[in-house]
Amino acid sequence: MTLFDRVFSGNDAVYGLTEAAIDNAIAQYGADQAVSFPHTAYSLPCYYAVTGTKVANLGELKEALGVVKTLMTREQKLNDAFMSGVATALCAEFIEVLKYINGAEPYAEPYYGHLADAIIRELGVPLVTGDIPGVAVILGKAPSNEEAVELVKSYQAQGILVTLVGDVIDQCVEAGLKMGYALRIVPLGKDVTSVIHVVSVALRAALIFGNVTPGDAGALMKYTMDRVPAFVNAFKPLDDVVVACGAGAIALGFPVVTNETENIFRVPKSLIVQEDVSKFNATSLEARDIKIKITKIDIPVSFASAFEGEIIRKGDMQVEFDGSRKDCFELVCTKDASEVEDHKFTLIGPDFDQMEVGSKQQIAYIVDVAGKNMQSDFEPVFERKFHSYVNCVEGVMHTGQRDMIRIRISKSTFEAGFRAKDLAEVLYANIKNEFDAVVDKCAVTIVTDEAECTKLRHELAIPAYDRRDERLTSLTDESVPVYYSCIMCQAFSPSHVCVVTPERLGLCGAVSWLDAKATNELDPQGPCQVITKERVIDENLGRYEDVDEAVAKFSQGALEHVTLYSIMEDPMTSCGCFECICGIEPFSNGVIITNREYTGMTPLGMTFGELASMTGGGVQTPGFMGHGKHFISSKKFMKAEGGIERIVWMPKELKEQVAERVNKTAQELYGIENFCDMIGDETIATDPEALLEFLTEKGHPALGMDPMM
Ligand code: SF4
Ligand code: NI
Ligand code: NI
Repeated sequence: MTLFDRVFSGNDAVYGLTEAAIDNAIAQYGADQAVSFPHTAYSLPCYYAVTGTKVANLGELKEALGVVKTLMTREQKLNDAFMSGVATALCAEFIEVLKYINGAEPYAEPYYGHLADAIIRELGVPLVTGDIPGVAVILGKAPSNEEAVELVKSYQAQGILVTLVGDVIDQCVEAGLKMGYALRIVPLGKDVTSVIHVVSVALRAALIFGNVTPGDAGALMKYTMDRVPAFVNAFKPLDDVVVACGAGAIALGFPVVTNETENIFRVPKSLIVQEDVSKFNATSLEARDIKIKITKIDIPVSFASAFEGEIIRKGDMQVEFDGSRKDCFELVCTKDASEVEDHKFTLIGPDFDQMEVGSKQQIAYIVDVAGKNMQSDFEPVFERKFHSYVNCVEGVMHTGQRDMIRIRISKSTFEAGFRAKDLAEVLYANIKNEFDAVVDKCAVTIVTDEAECTKLRHELAIPAYDRRDERLTSLTDESVPVYYSCIMCQAFSPSHVCVVTPERLGLCGAVSWLDAKATNELDPQGPCQVITKERVIDENLGRYEDVDEAVAKFSQGALEHVTLYSIMEDPMTSCGCFECICGIEPFSNGVIITNREYTGMTPLGMTFGELASMTGGGVQTPGFMGHGKHFISSKKFMKAEGGIERIVWMPKELKEQVAERVNKTAQELYGIENFCDMIGDETIATDPEALLEFLTEKGHPALGMDPMM
């Protein structure tokens, strides 16, 4: 049999199964029975992305299968094989969606099955920054449990997101490997068809970030090929179905590496035989051109971004530092070069081995930095990184910031020899590595002595935070000489540009004006460029000739005009990784805001995912806009339309998160006390009528404002 024949035969087999499954389902439930995956606005995402048609019920699914059949041509040509591979993938999606019929929950721990749109949006930033350098799809049964675990861990240590399909999952479970999305190891399912759930992520990324038109299969495949760094590792024996799926993967630009030697044909850079499983990692990275950023740190446990989400439970912890009970803090101090001895480590107080097991302790770390180009404005930028640095240590958990931190060190990490000097080394090595353009010297002091922690917290840290907060409040769009662009997300959203100002952070929530300033300083040719603000056209809208020129340049002409303060007139574009989205609520003249974490309904009749699917991809959608959480309390939040007074609804949790700051802004701008009490949430209303009733009762100011449309 030729390789083509194997693809065709696998495709035929899956097609037959799919047809039978759909017919059975129709016989059981009727053609009108709805079919969908949970938490996605893209109907059957793969089929929709490839054909542009949404499938809502079994009858339509059956019709869609007819369309799939037209892809299954049988000439002995590469294109026929690729299309049959795509057809196999679509059949897999149909089989999988049938598992979810009638509200069923077919996947239970440790399996994930279908992944929500929200996860894809969350992946946006780490994928563009290279924190997640790639996505591995491992399929089948490894020669041994040890080899399975070793391969998975090798990717995990590189920060690669690992998805697992089939027997390899059992192998990892048997070997006791800890898995889960937070650890970047996602077991999808036992059946080979569950591989579609990772394909679905790649294809939705093209729709969410890439503004690819559903149905434009050519653009879709180009997008996944150029921008989604995924690859497949398939263990022997490969049956024809797996070979057919592999053809689909290759059609999307994802190379397949296998240890199968029988009846297989090599295709350079696409279908690669590697008999030695221990070399799968290197072979895959080479085939997909994935470069790994390595931070070599001399500590007794691993340091990798895959450990960032790891949770340490009470029973597993050796010691805990708890800023809510004890005096703790983390602080960066700019010093004169003569005052800092590079790589010096000082410990004041007992080391971890002198602390009682399971006890709550205090800790403070002071990182002194010096450098010709260092500015005190960078201190908070570095400090915010500590969370990720410390968290990336295997068996160490860090939450919070400033003097409200909590750190847990696990027993196994302690037993491996992790001590205060290693914590210092983690801070030192990362600062020197990431900020080498401005930091010439760096020294770390760790304080665990109780009295000393208390003293330093009150005499050194709190005054420093207060000074910075003052500086931050004095930073307004008017008070600074320039703004910054950010085009980090262009890796996925080719025409998207964020304009970052002091009062409007990037929509991902991760890039403030100070961050952008630091990024520009560290890498002058990098993603953040200075935008002057000298030629104002309209102050109220935030329209500037300089800004228009900059977005036109950085979007390669895709965008011509952007305003900073309006959601109706030339609003800023959205890439896809926004924390929140706001949209007009026509009955109240207001806007609602919803956030990625909230999966429920909004008064607009759409969920976050559905709203988000209407904007994003780097296009302007007047009336809808992605934005960061912090922007909600900004005096510049849709200032052109009247500002935060327009906000009529937010999910309860989000409202609680931002209430203090929103109330303060409302008080300062309009003299309204406790404005958040006038804002609806899902416990009050999820439909426009009930919301309007509530707003009327509260006398919400939006009701008396000019219509927005
Ligand atoms: Fe992406 Fe904008 Fe955030 Fe930059 S600021 S990372 S472009 S969302
Ligand atoms: Ni950790
Ligand atoms: Ni983005």
